[in-house]
Amino acid sequence: MEFFLDTANIEEIKQGIKHFPIRGITCNPTIIKKEGKIDFFNHFKEIRKIIGKQRSLHIQTVSQNCDGMISDAKAILKNIDQDIYIKIPVTAQGLEAIQILKREGLNITATAVYTKMQGYLALEAGIDYLALYLNRMENLNICSKSVISGFADKISKYQYKTKILAASFKNIAQINEAFDAGAQSITAPLSLLCDVFKVPSINQAVDVFNNDWASLYENKKGIEDL
Ligand code: E4P
Repeated sequence: MEFFLDTANIEEIKQGIKHFPIRGITCNPTIIKKEGKIDFFNHFKEIRKIIGKQRSLHIQTVSQNCDGMISDAKAILKNIDQDIYIKIPVTAQGLEAIQILKREGLNITATAVYTKMQGYLALEAGIDYLALYLNRMENLNICSKSVISGFADKISKYQYKTKILAASFKNIAQINEAFDAGAQSITAPLSLLCDVFKVPSINQAVDVFNNDWASLYENKKGIEDL
């Protein structure tokens, strides 16, 4: 299972990679807007410095047509680095751009995927990650579990190398469902990943362990103090 942070916030990324086993960073123009009018290329160069080469960085194109998306992708690679995963919305124009860029050997994450056929076409175009919008699907009464498991079946049946990157989460239950349905990866904001530990029983259990230790060894805080 792979965990990504869905953010362009520098502090969130620093905290996130410190506490969680994070494989990479994803974002989109709406997420970038939360940071204000950033110095685009330098901001992402800084993110790359923080996350290193061992984690992946997924940045979305913003142009409406195929030529523009290709130019966006080239500008991202030229001004940030060559290892970026280019996120491209699966529209007709996007699908054209994906095929051209895959032929050039770029890393591609297909995004804004809501329906099965949209995703099937992206799979056949050779994408690396398929970003599926769980919460947005559920808001539209689309059964996200069945969409994910359908893609997981097709990926396995036809032996695509693509990984499902489930996204657009509003709670932990949706993340669990995504993995159960066959997603290999999920992307979520740090605040949502932190919710994992907001189960009172976790702190209660740790408090009992701490109290029992303290009652035995009084002022020895740790085992190394013995
Ligand atoms: C990530 O790839 C998606 O762009 C993102 O998770 C969408 O999240 P939202 O539905 O909360 O906007």
